[in-house]
Amino acid sequence: MASITIRNLDEATKQLLRERAAHNGRSMEEEVRHLLRDSTQAPVSFPAEPAAASGSPEIFDPLELDGKRILLIITGGIAAYKCLDLIRRLRERGASVRPVMTEGARAFITPLVVGALANDKVFLELFSREDEQDVGHIRLARECDLVLVAPATADFIAKMALGLANDLASTIVLASNRPLLVAPAMNPIMWAAPALQRNMQQLRADGVHVIGPMRGEMAESGEAGTGRMAEPLDIVAAVRGLLAGTPGTIKGPLAGKRAIVTSGPTHEPIDPVRYIANRSSGKQGHAIAAALAALGAQVTLVSGPVTIADPAGVTTLHVETAREMLDAVEQLLPTDIAVMVAAVADWRASGAAGEKIKKKPGKAPPPLQLTENPDILKTVGHHAKRPALVVGFAAETQNLIDNARGKLQRKGADWIVANDVSPAKGVMGGDRNHVRIVSRSGVEDWPEMDKTSVAARLAQKIADRFETTEV
Ligand code: CTP
Repeated sequence: MASITIRNLDEATKQLLRERAAHNGRSMEEEVRHLLRDSTQAPVSFPAEPAAASGSPEIFDPLELDGKRILLIITGGIAAYKCLDLIRRLRERGASVRPVMTEGARAFITPLVVGALANDKVFLELFSREDEQDVGHIRLARECDLVLVAPATADFIAKMALGLANDLASTIVLASNRPLLVAPAMNPIMWAAPALQRNMQQLRADGVHVIGPMRGEMAESGEAGTGRMAEPLDIVAAVRGLLAGTPGTIKGPLAGKRAIVTSGPTHEPIDPVRYIANRSSGKQGHAIAAALAALGAQVTLVSGPVTIADPAGVTTLHVETAREMLDAVEQLLPTDIAVMVAAVADWRASGAAGEKIKKKPGKAPPPLQLTENPDILKTVGHHAKRPALVVGFAAETQNLIDNARGKLQRKGADWIVANDVSPAKGVMGGDRNHVRIVSRSGVEDWPEMDKTSVAARLAQKIADRFETTEV
């Protein structure tokens, strides 16, 4: 095998290596070993279809799930068809997939196609003499590294929350002592139903990991909202994250440190159907949460409404409004690190209407009265339980540095990551960012790069700060 001395690499290559290592949660030496092994042993594979839609990298390591055994429980929802792609994605990364299908799942896809893609027997019945002699539900539950339920219907989630065991899939879930990841998928009204949300709370309290659902168009025509199953590549990333280590257990330079990250926009209701929002996608904040976790930090992400998946290895709390975001953040204090990336709405409608505001023919439109929202960064920057390192963002369209310096001072932050959000720059909602880091000691101008790289570099800068300073 070839060898490389990191010390002898030029600065730019070292930086790229540092970012790649941070992204993959490895030390630089481990990253070099992976690169060398891949180049000498296995060809790098490209997925058959572009992966950009889910924001995942296009190049993958064909050994990243090498030897991992995934027990995939498919329950009965339209999203079951996405499992066929999911099985392929898991297997091309080296995992084996053992499928279990509920009766409902069989109404959407056939065991024949699932078995063919998984290259394994499909388990269907609890009281099948043949299956029980073959493997048995207890062995199915234990002979795997992770149990994945995708899609998870409202009915199956309710069974899990109650601990029912009246078919093979629910019995396996109850009998398993392996990490459990569920990818809910259902109609948005069902997802929002109080009973369903109660069940989800129970699952989270029971230590079940959840990915999605996401916002977007539903299969039912004309319906949109939160309920779509997370994309297969995002589920694969979550599986990888869980198998790499439970949140906060990665041994990196930020091991033992706790971090809060806010991300996405907030939605401020005007009435039950209308709200004030902004164009933030959450991509930058979510990437920062993932990058801090990859360096070993125990990260809680407080996210406003976004359409991207929860990052793996991070605990994600979902909120709607600025006041909910502030409550969630304050409850998490004290922590070592706070990175406030969210594009919090500065104002909310004074006294949101309880009923839909109706047009009154011949009358002027109703005035929209605004009230200022609490400033979360400022509250945290001046809090009695202030984190040792407080990082804010500044979204500006003019006087970038001056405005960022003003925010640094006013909000009690240690650093402000300033970015120009003029529409021509395409930062809000886009994949790239050009940032300046403004602190009391000066301004660092970073080259334009993708948001994942900005996140990796910022996480490394945070780790360096904790290494060199008593904070
Ligand atoms: N921020 C916050 N709570 C608010 C407003 C902003 O926590 N109510 C945080 C953002 O997360 C970001 C920083 O403050 O880290 C700056 O946000 P930005 O939108 O750039 O500035 P504003 O304070 O909203 O001021 P302005 O809109 O006047 O530029």
